[in-house]
Amino acid sequence: MVSATHSISNSAFSLLLLCILGVNPVKGVSSATFKWPDPRMDLIDETLYGAKQLAALTENCAPRDKTTVAAQWIRLAYHDSSTADVREQTGGLDASIVYELEEDENVGVKGLDDFRHFTSPYVSMADVIAMGTVLSVASCGGPIIPFRGGRVDATKAGPDTVPEPYEDLEDHIESFKRQGFTKTEMIGLVACGHTLGGVRKVDFPDIIPETGPDFENFDRTEFKFDNAVYVDVTEFLDDTTANPLVRTFNETNRSDLRIFGSDKNVTMRSLASPDKFSKTCGSLLERMINTVPKGVKLTDTVDPFENKVSGVSLFPQNGTLVLQATLRRISANPKRSVKLFWQERQKQGSSACNSSGCSVNPTKTTTYSASFFGKLRGVKEFTNYEFRAQIPLGASVSKFWFTVDEGSGAKTVENGGGRYEIEQDTVVYDPARTTIASAGVDGKVLVVGVRTEQAAGAKVSVETYQGDTSNYIPIIQNVDLQLDTKNPPKDGYTFFTGSISSGASYLHVNAVVGGKKIRQFVDSKDLVL
Ligand code: HEM
Ligand SMILES: *[C@@H]1O[C@H](CO)[C@@H](O)[C@H](O)[C@H]1NC(C)=O
Ligand SMILES: *[C@@H]1O[C@H](CO)[C@@H](O)[C@H](O)[C@H]1NC(C)=O
Ligand SMILES: *[C@@H]1O[C@H](CO)[C@@H](O)[C@H](O)[C@H]1NC(C)=O
Ligand SMILES: *[C@@H]1O[C@H](CO)[C@@H](O)[C@H](O)[C@H]1NC(C)=O
Ligand SMILES: *[C@@H]1O[C@H](CO)[C@@H](O)[C@H](O)[C@H]1NC(C)=O
Repeated sequence: MVSATHSISNSAFSLLLLCILGVNPVKGVSSATFKWPDPRMDLIDETLYGAKQLAALTENCAPRDKTTVAAQWIRLAYHDSSTADVREQTGGLDASIVYELEEDENVGVKGLDDFRHFTSPYVSMADVIAMGTVLSVASCGGPIIPFRGGRVDATKAGPDTVPEPYEDLEDHIESFKRQGFTKTEMIGLVACGHTLGGVRKVDFPDIIPETGPDFENFDRTEFKFDNAVYVDVTEFLDDTTANPLVRTFNETNRSDLRIFGSDKNVTMRSLASPDKFSKTCGSLLERMINTVPKGVKLTDTVDPFENKVSGVSLFPQNGTLVLQATLRRISANPKRSVKLFWQERQKQGSSACNSSGCSVNPTKTTTYSASFFGKLRGVKEFTNYEFRAQIPLGASVSKFWFTVDEGSGAKTVENGGGRYEIEQDTVVYDPARTTIASAGVDGKVLVVGVRTEQAAGAKVSVETYQGDTSNYIPIIQNVDLQLDTKNPPKDGYTFFTGSISSGASYLHVNAVVGGKKIRQFVDSKDLVL
């Protein structure tokens, strides 16, 4: 397992670049650059740093259910990852918890209802759980843990492996070893986890007696990581802690007391400095979320992307081809000017473009706030530049790119070295003809265009995905599209249509046209992702 890719450090240059941009890179890891189309990286970036609302749920170490959202998310992540067997390279952070909620060991586990809105075919539940930990820790004043994506969800329950308070020390050492942690690391990981939250009487009536409070915090102060973390450790060391797993009436259940004291308090004493505590928690929790089964390869670290392209579509309208695209930049610079350029697919005599390409200015510019986590990474806001180019039907388009002038000269924005390539214009998702289903019918009526000269006998379908289900198991479907009678052939395209239910997003168009398979990624803003 533990394909925990501990990659080599950034080049001095990209570090310098990130510093200039105001992004604090996490040292010692190589961070990804955005290469369109990459819905996984797009969504991860947006979920951690941008407009997606996951981060907001835990902002300021938000309280919930007498504890904090962060405590619930971190416990969930630990319970999910505790199936890890590092020798067999099985289990770990794989969302098997989805199938394990009914088990006694998972009593009181909460958080999947928060996460289910954020999964997609590109971002697994396991990735969302891992993001939950990164966001939680940071929201409560803890360290910034670098995030990698690419986890794969299990399709069944893992073994019952969550440690129980009544187990003896040898059993706990053995289970943490199986999960990839030494005895010293076990002490650290439990101390980090039990910095937040506490024990609930309904869940653990053997630990909090009937006469006790409904919920008892692990520490006597507040929930937060910043000072309380360290307060937790010092409270333990000076024997003033209220931690029920240290103090509970039945000695058998004092697991934290046994674990923390298992090396004569040496590790706990070493953690009694806020800086050491923070660093230790960062690296142990990072290892916990990056422990994944054999065969799963995690991405590079996702830092806020400087240039991110999304919402790209190409479709016929009013005798032209419309190319829509959005470029997102870090920060709002009122002096900034941004242009979209494109290269025609077929050279035309009547072309309006000169040798440096055709270009348009944005039709809309929107600035939006970064999430609290983006702000912690030095990004206050992002700006979206939306473009709409009208291109002669016969000319079409093969590539596009941008120039950005921050006030000191225009620089070209390319797609990780090359240009943004539009592979084909034979099969195109048409956001303008796609409509909300009529009154009384849920969902959407999708429209896809196929070049008319190739449309005879074409088979067109869309893959849909619905992640937001009550059992957290996504529904993936294929919907066949039929010839569209409401939109007769026009502008060189013949249209196909079909309905999808609300809550589902449509992700790829699959077509067989003239015996050739074409798969188009639908990169549209009206996706429900
Ligand atoms: C021997 C190992 C462990 C035992 C026996 C143990 C036991 C417990 C128990 C009994 C609770 C109370 C849950 C409830 O009342 O619903 C709890 C809460 C919690 N545990 Fe652990 N735990 C262990 C290790 C860990 C680790 C390694 C982490 C994370 C790195 C962790 C994170 C948490 C968190 C954050 C809470 C608070 C949840 C909340 O307030 O909602 N635990 N633990
Ligand atoms: C607490 O200890 C009692 C007695 O050993 C045991 O029966 C019970 O299961 C323990 N509770 C927990 C939550 O481990
Ligand atoms: C504590 O646990 C022990 C061992 O399981 C059990 O025999 C005893 O009855 C428990 N004591 C209390 C007070 O619950
Ligand atoms: C460790 O700390 C706890 C809590 O203060 C204390 O009860 C215990 O005796 C200490 N153990 C050692 C070996 O110092
Ligand atoms: C298309 O052309 C018609 C007729 O000229 C006009 O009314 C309509 O607004 C145009 N639609 C778009 C999206 O440009
Ligand atoms: C191309 O056209 C643009 C405006 O349409 C102009 O600003 C630019 O200088 C032209 N470039 C060349 C090489 O002619």
